[in-house]
This record gives sequence, C-alpha cells and structure tokens, in this order.
Amino acid sequence: MSRIAYVNGRYLPFRDAKVHVEDRGYQFADAVYEVCEVRAGRLIDERRHLDRLKRSLGALSIPPPMSRAALSVVLHEVVARNRMAHGNVYLQISRGVARRDLPFPPDVAPNVVVTARALNRARIEALAAQGITVISVPDNRWGRVDIKTVGLLPNVLARQNALDKGARDAWFVDQKGFVTEAASANAWIVMADGKLITRHTDHAILGGITRAVVFDVVKAQGLRIEERPFSLEEAYRAREAFITSATQIVMPVVRLDNYPIGDGKPGPIATALRRQFHRFAEGG
Ligand code: PDD
Repeated sequence: MSRIAYVNGRYLPFRDAKVHVEDRGYQFADAVYEVCEVRAGRLIDERRHLDRLKRSLGALSIPPPMSRAALSVVLHEVVARNRMAHGNVYLQISRGVARRDLPFPPDVAPNVVVTARALNRARIEALAAQGITVISVPDNRWGRVDIKTVGLLPNVLARQNALDKGARDAWFVDQKGFVTEAASANAWIVMADGKLITRHTDHAILGGITRAVVFDVVKAQGLRIEERPFSLEEAYRAREAFITSATQIVMPVVRLDNYPIGDGKPGPIATALRRQFHRFAEGG
C-alpha cells in the first residue's frame, strides 16, 4: 500500500508530496515539528504534543495555520489513510514560502506537512531488552533547543558520530561538564541510592512529553526524583541510565563512552518504567 502524506490541505501519495524550493523550513530551518507515537492506531499524548506545538509556534511568531481541532483531524486522518497500527506521525509547520531574505516575510501562509511511519514494535522491544550504547559529545547547539525546530544539524552530526563509533546514540555535554540530553531524547540516570536524576527544563533541553509522563509513572511507583543537571562522571557511576522520547519511550542505556552502566544490562527501574508507561500516557 502506498504511503499518504498531508500537504497544505491535500492528502497525496508520497511521490507527489512536495513543498516549494523557497520554503523557509528548507532554507533557514524556519520551521517547527512534533512527533507523536501511534499505538494500536491511536495517537499517544496528542494533547500535550499540540500544547508544545503551540508554544514552539508562539516562540517563533509563526501564526497557527489552522485550529487545534482541525489539526487533530488531519493527524488522525493521516494515520487512518496509512492504515497504521504502530509507528509515529510527524507534523512540520514552516513559516511559509517567500523570496530568500532573512526577515519574516509579510503575508505568507505557513506550510503544513504531516507524514506517518510504521515501526516494527517487536524490533524496538528487542532493542529495549538489550539496551543501547551511547557516546558523549560536546553540546554545540544554539541556546533555544527548548523550541522544537527542525534546525537539527548538531543532532544529525552527533548521531552519525555515535554510529561511526559503533554506538547507537549520543549524549550532549555542556561546557560545565553536565549532560543536557540525547540527540533526540531526554537523558536520565539512577543513582546508587535509587534516586532518579534528569535535568530540569530550561532553554538547554527540549521539554519532552515522554519525560513528563515518566514523572507521573515515577511518582506512582513511589520512586524519588530530582530535577537537576548531572555530570558525565555521575553518569559513568550510575546504577542505571536511560533515555525517553515519543519514538523510543523508555530506552535503557547500558554503556556510556568506555563505561558499562551498572552491570551492563538494562536496569530494573528503566524496564519497569517502560512497561508501565502506556498506563499513564493519554490514549495509551
Ligand atoms: N525527538 N530531546 C530532543 C532533542 C528531541 O529531539 C526529543 C524528541 C526529545 C524527547 O521529546 P518527546 O518525549 O516529546 O518525544 C528530547 C523526536 C522524537 C524526534 O526528533 O524524532
């Protein structure tokens, strides 16, 4: 079955799904996006993703291209037209098409694109059972990564660097030696005393939706949690480590640079959080 994409009001076969060469997302990364998990055909945490989208659009002064209700219809329609059970739905909104000039162009309509991608759940579960290896890289991103823009070149290079070194992902480390987040996920560690640590939300990380839901799971399980920066050295000594994102949910990290985390296997806390996650996520 051919994949269907939504582009500015039309549902199109993938080969016809195109935006103009002078789209500002293409030329300047002047665009924002969201990725939402689809599970058994349902969108997970749609409300929170649309809240964050609104915030990202507001931060860049891109006017919302349509109402929230209309956007929701489009997201569901793309999932339905692709007959997708498991995977994710991707939404991108750029400022629009205009002659290449840095200032905001007057009177442009935002470009809206929605695509869906099926994922093999068994393969992801197998990866989670095994855990992933991670390298650390300097965080050389701009100062507003809390806005979910498509300006992801440092993330692209970090992930490629990890793959080139035989690892699966990269953790960004700021100039003070603190871990900020992963290339496309939030970073967590579990200390020797069982306390969970993840960086507080500020301009240096994306406020992950999965991160927010995991807070609820953690509290329901009676675990302790601290939001603060943690150093690479603390991470090397951690009992467990994991990352959270809409596409990976809770993914155990079993090796960081040259150090095995804990006993080098996915830890019980990360494993339990992963198992419990969808009881706490909306639509799960
Ligand atoms: N990325 N940090 C970064 C840099 C991210 O790109 C993401 C998500 C997250 C986690 O956010 P959430 O829990 O809302 O997915 C944190 C998506 C999945 C992506 O770019 O594919």
